[in-house]
Amino acid sequence: MKNNNHNNYSMISHFKFFNAPLHLINLLSIILFFGFGLCFGIILSFHLKNVSFNLQFTQFSLSTTTATATTTTTTTTSDVITPPQSTTPPPTNAGLTSYLNPPELMHDMNDEELLWRASMVPKVRDYPYNRIPKVAFMFLTRGPVVLSPLWDRFFKGNEGLYNVYVHMSNSSSNATEPEDSVFHGRRIPSKDVEWGKVNMIEAERRLLANALLDFSNQQFVLLSDACIPLFNFSTVYSYLTNSNHNFVESYDLEGPVGRGRYSPKMAPTVVIDDWRKGSQWFEMDRDLATEVISDTKYFSVFHDFCDGQCYADEHYLPTLVTKIFPDTNANRTLTFVDWAKGGPHPTRYTRNDVTEEFLEKLRSDTRCEYNGKQNQICHLFARKFTSHALDRLLRIAPRLMQFNDL
Ligand SMILES: *[C@@H]1O[C@H](CO)[C@@H](O)[C@H](O)[C@H]1NC(C)=O
Ligand SMILES: *[C@@H]1O[C@H](CO)[C@@H](O)[C@H](O)[C@H]1NC(C)=O
Ligand SMILES: *[C@@H]1O[C@H](CO)[C@@H](O)[C@H](O)[C@H]1NC(C)=O
Ligand SMILES: *[C@@H]1O[C@H](CO)[C@@H](O)[C@H](O)[C@H]1NC(C)=O
Repeated sequence: MKNNNHNNYSMISHFKFFNAPLHLINLLSIILFFGFGLCFGIILSFHLKNVSFNLQFTQFSLSTTTATATTTTTTTTSDVITPPQSTTPPPTNAGLTSYLNPPELMHDMNDEELLWRASMVPKVRDYPYNRIPKVAFMFLTRGPVVLSPLWDRFFKGNEGLYNVYVHMSNSSSNATEPEDSVFHGRRIPSKDVEWGKVNMIEAERRLLANALLDFSNQQFVLLSDACIPLFNFSTVYSYLTNSNHNFVESYDLEGPVGRGRYSPKMAPTVVIDDWRKGSQWFEMDRDLATEVISDTKYFSVFHDFCDGQCYADEHYLPTLVTKIFPDTNANRTLTFVDWAKGGPHPTRYTRNDVTEEFLEKLRSDTRCEYNGKQNQICHLFARKFTSHALDRLLRIAPRLMQFNDL
């Protein structure tokens, strides 16, 4: 037995020995074949990925270019509706699509050309396509929007329902926003702005006009780089698009900082009883926005007789809107600001001011009227927040305000 076993063993080993080269060749060819297959597979899958990525990309750009053309108007009188969701657009009429496409943001029109083009209104009021009304968020800033990471979180997941515009008065500032920011490439041709000067209202009209070039914009919100949202996007969107009113603060104020800033040279276009004051941060619809940028009558009076210590930005719109569109105005602002400490500048909030309680307090002010109903949300935005408040805001706000991106 033992011997047999031994013989068997040696036979096997002999057999193995003689077959070794054959095995090696087999093994090598298998490895080669497998390796080749693997390479082929990798290359193929890479190509496929590229193809599908390109496909997605072209689909995406197609849907963005046609989004303006294929949208739905939802005019409901109910207070709270959820914003309509963009869907994949059906094929559209190329002639209309090209007409509806706004020009490049950094166009070469001067202000006169821009205002003229933006003032055009279709005489047929019904849109011949499904139009989803968008909100134009217009930022009037000196430099970059320092709180942009907070706004990025606010906008995330609501694409197709808003457009962002930035008027950056410091033309020497080259700051570019990161590519994944909603502020990236959203600068409009801007000019210098000085506090209280007429060029401030020129900048506001420039922002409005640029935003009006996009037919999809229905609501227009003016914000500064010190503004924050107080509610999530869907609340802000439905509050603005379902409102029966514009929100341009406008009141009559006795004394040096009210009627005292009026110049009798403005008569008879603007008499003292027309003179109004209000916050420059407004929310208005497309009809009023078109009236504002088309106004030459009142603007020229303010241009000639309200520069410097007159603070045109606090009087032009409040006076104009009360003159030409009084019934549509709520006469209040949606942007909270605290003047309680007195002086020429409102309270600035920095890092330690930002707590959950503080933000909740701003959100819970409901002493206001909305579409004829009492005790509704008063403010959608608040200022003035410094860049030092950003960290805390990013930590607290998205959860507290139930941003979409959570
Ligand atoms: C404008 O921007 C430049 C470059 O960022 C900066 O040095 C300058 O201080 C800014 N000017 C104002 C008035 O903010
Ligand atoms: C802005 O960019 C221009 C050209 O790209 C450059 O010449 C200029 O120095 C830059 N300004 C600042 C303040 O960085
Ligand atoms: C706002 O003020 C104008 C002019 O005084 C007035 O006609 C209008 O009714 C006011 N709006 C509201 C909502 O009270
Ligand atoms: C937005 O906030 C409101 C409460 O203010 C909440 O009811 C709603 O669900 C939030 N929307 C989203 C999309 O999270």
